[in-house]
Amino acid sequence: MRRFSLIVAVSENLGIGIKGDLPWRIKSELKYFSRTTKRTSDPSKRNAVIMGRKTYFGVPESKRPLPNRLNIVLSTTLQPEDLPKDVMLCPNLEAAMKHLEGDDQIENVWVVGGSGVYAEAMDSNRCHRLYITRIHQKFECDTFFPTIPESFREVAPDPDTPAGVQEENGIEYEYKVMEKETK
Ligand SMILES: NC(=O)c1ccc[n+]([C@@H]2O[C@H](COP(=O)([O-])OP(=O)(O)OC[C@H]3O[C@@H](n4cnc5c(N)ncnc54)[C@H](OP(=O)(O)O)[C@@H]3O)[C@@H](O)[C@H]2O)c1
Repeated sequence: MRRFSLIVAVSENLGIGIKGDLPWRIKSELKYFSRTTKRTSDPSKRNAVIMGRKTYFGVPESKRPLPNRLNIVLSTTLQPEDLPKDVMLCPNLEAAMKHLEGDDQIENVWVVGGSGVYAEAMDSNRCHRLYITRIHQKFECDTFFPTIPESFREVAPDPDTPAGVQEENGIEYEYKVMEKETK
């Protein structure tokens, strides 16, 4: 069974978004997102990023689709012609994963938001790891990260991840990784 990991940046009050955008500007965190979701061990392969309709259209037009990754948008209201040809449209996360099952050109699969997609992801047996950037500040938000199921435990971050509290423009944050316990 193909698995995926989830990646999110979340504030102290569990916010992830406001008015279709991110509530903060942290350039090094965006670079971490980009690096982590692009990384493959086989240079001939690429990764897939799966996101809800609002997250996709929240990315500035000049920056979407997210480059060097297969972009998959989850929506039941869009038509394929509403998206660029190289972007895949699926009705839900499981349909997207079934599609990727036989695609050996895709190495890793990343779920990149938003709220309902994260909830569906953390409920799935396919969910392996949660890459969570904890932002040590409260922000006004209208979109929130769902409760993390108790089956997830903190594990050591990947070796190339900056360790400890980071800081940019006065905003402190820390990279964390959680993994589903296997019984
Ligand atoms: N901080 C972070 O790391 C982070 C990451 C991602 C997004 N964000 C922020 O979060 C906000 C967007 O997230 P959002 O939660 O409002 O919207 P979203 O999840 O990106 O999009 C919601 C839409 O996705 C489709 N969808 C497909 N499967 C779904 C499922 N299982 N659950 C819910 N929707 C599903 C539906 O489209 P149809 O109605 O067309 O069927 C739904 O209306 C923005 O502010 C964005 O900047 C932050």
